[in-house]
Amino acid sequence: MKKAVLVTLATVALGATTIVTLAADELAYQDQIEARQSFMHVYRFNLGLLGAMAKGEAPYDAELASAAANNLLAASRMNNRAMWPAGSDMSAAGYEGVTWAKADIWSAGSEIGAKSKALSDALEAMAAVAGDGLAAVRSNMGAVGDGCKGCHEPYRASKD
Ligand code: HEC
Repeated sequence: MKKAVLVTLATVALGATTIVTLAADELAYQDQIEARQSFMHVYRFNLGLLGAMAKGEAPYDAELASAAANNLLAASRMNNRAMWPAGSDMSAAGYEGVTWAKADIWSAGSEIGAKSKALSDALEAMAAVAGDGLAAVRSNMGAVGDGCKGCHEPYRASKD
């Protein structure tokens, strides 16, 4: 909405060339924020596949379960530091409603690295056995869910 208004004003006042620059400059960290949110969607999608099997909403499929668990593990091991520049938190000017990342991620004593590692450890256990049967998936779901929640609770604001 904000963007649409800005672009309209720019069209009237300044012409087409400026619009492009304006849109690109509007939020310095737009690309990083989109990338990290998309990264989170990769998590959600793959965890959703496992969750549906665990809940009995989808038939257990060893190959799919193993692929989803390994995708999650690979994602958790990705170095995505560049997606989290300091100053791109929700309290920075212009970022409200764009990102839900709390400033505490970047504050002294932040445990973001440990939270990341906790998820990765849980995913390592899941990936090792996800292809071995539904019981194995089920018994590891809680720890993986806690890995997500363990970071969201302190570092991500609710959208509601
Ligand atoms: C190390 C911290 C951390 C871990 C671990 C983590 N997340 Fe997130 N997640 C975040 C933060 C911070 C945000 C907010 C990002 C933003 O809005 O810029 C977020 C946002 C999200 C979003 C919303 C994205 C959007 O478009 O607004 C989803 C969905 C999500 N995470 C899913 C997951 C799932 C599923 C897992 C576990 C497999 C997980 N996350 C693990 C920190 C984490």
